[in-house]
Amino acid sequence: MSTNLKILVTAGPTRESIDPVRYISNHSSGKMGYAIAAAAAKYTKDIFLISGPVAIEVPKDVYLFKVNSAIEMETSALSLYPRMDIVIMTAAVCDYRAASFSDNKIKKTGADTLTLTLVKNPDILASMGEKKEKQFLVGFAAETENLKANALEKLKNKNLDMIIANDVTKAGAGFGSDTNKVTIFSKDGDEKEFPLMPKKELAEEIMKYIFSKTNN
Ligand code: PMT
Repeated sequence: MSTNLKILVTAGPTRESIDPVRYISNHSSGKMGYAIAAAAAKYTKDIFLISGPVAIEVPKDVYLFKVNSAIEMETSALSLYPRMDIVIMTAAVCDYRAASFSDNKIKKTGADTLTLTLVKNPDILASMGEKKEKQFLVGFAAETENLKANALEKLKNKNLDMIIANDVTKAGAGFGSDTNKVTIFSKDGDEKEFPLMPKKELAEEIMKYIFSKTNN
């Protein structure tokens, strides 16, 4: 099957700088998002991959946009968004960033504690949900408890068409591994559970499932 669809995929972590040498981030390797971009590239030539800092090979035939912070990812994603048909937000976007960036390396002092003030980052996917026109919006949910309830809340609150939930406490699932185990919840009430499998194979299954729901 070949389509003219434009597909936006985000992948990897965001990196929120504190000073010139330190940052806040998470354990996302980008493997899941890059596998999705590679699987999607088999269907269309218009794959736009926005990636946080990762160390893996870029799939062939995708347009790559490299970003660091959540704010940079938001700028890049929202500028591409109006032209997209399908959006798959695999990135692990940091929910918070340092309230201020210190131009110089923060010095160690005599005190035993250091307090860092964090401010909320924009929720990129929720903004897309608010601006949604033709786009089929797919989110990921990384959960450590109440998988279904939390995923369904995100599906509704972010105005998504589909959410792919992974329990990141399960062996072989979630951050960093070559495998993942997910359940997909759709806006139409459908629920599909996949067994533990390599992220590359899972990405193929996810793309087939998305196309079965978009009728393309
Ligand atoms: O990269 P890997 O090592 O292969 O790991 C894959 C993964 C665990 C990162 C991936 O499978 C995954 O679960 N990605 C989503 C991680 C996440 O941030 O989940 P969340 O439940 O916090 O966010 C829900 C959705 O909102 C996500 O689609 C996220 O991209 C989006 N979001 C979150 C916060 C924010 N400020 N803006 C967003 O757009």
